Amino acid sequence: MYIYPVWVRIWHLVNALLIIALVVTGLSLQYSGSDFILMPFKSSVTIHNTSGLLLCASFIYYLLANHFTSNGQYYHFKSKGMIGRALKQARYYSYGVFKKEEPPFPVKVGRKFNPLQKLSYLFVMYLLMPAVIITGIAMLFPDLLPDRIFGILGIHFIDLIHIITGFCLSVFLVVHIYICTLGNTPSSNFKSMINGWH
Ligand code: HEM
Repeated sequence: MYIYPVWVRIWHLVNALLIIALVVTGLSLQYSGSDFILMPFKSSVTIHNTSGLLLCASFIYYLLANHFTSNGQYYHFKSKGMIGRALKQARYYSYGVFKKEEPPFPVKVGRKFNPLQKLSYLFVMYLLMPAVIITGIAMLFPDLLPDRIFGILGIHFIDLIHIITGFCLSVFLVVHIYICTLGNTPSSNFKSMINGWH
């Protein structure tokens, strides 16, 4: 089955490279005051800000492309029974896969994602990504931020949300890559993301 059209693969590659650049430069900025020096502060700022703006553009492209092509349909889900389906998939990932059981929700026409992939992609792409992008853009214009939000300095509040969402995205990246190795063979999902075919 051909399930990853060219635009998804190009978007995904660009997105992954930008996120990796952002995580590395973000860590460098976070620890800029300590002995932990990954790269000069100025380079981190330039690469981080440029990658962030490019990520914003690629994210808008992803939203529009999902809206105007059939790929968006894979993200729709019925809330009825979702928890049961997600638990079934979680049991497979934590137990069944090691016992060589058949996956409970194999890829088929009209179903590219299993329930856990669907929930995690929805959470990451429609909650974490907008949050990290909006707070990142907000920090490019510190003068426009309110002085105080919930009793703390406005910029600190926005920064906190930015760092928490960035951290969650880094955790997602590690879990995502691990889960992608649990396909038919450890490399089959990666091959699919390169050639489009499952
Ligand atoms: C080196 C980094 C990454 C690798 C190797 C990787 C690998 C993969 C692979 C093999 C797939 C296809 C299997 C599947 O659908 O689960 C996939 C799909 C996907 N990945 Fe990643 N990924 C990476 C980074 C990311 C990042 C940073 C994000 C989001 C912040 C992301 C979001 C997605 C989404 C949304 C899909 C489904 C796309 C669609 O078909 O609509 N990935 N990834």
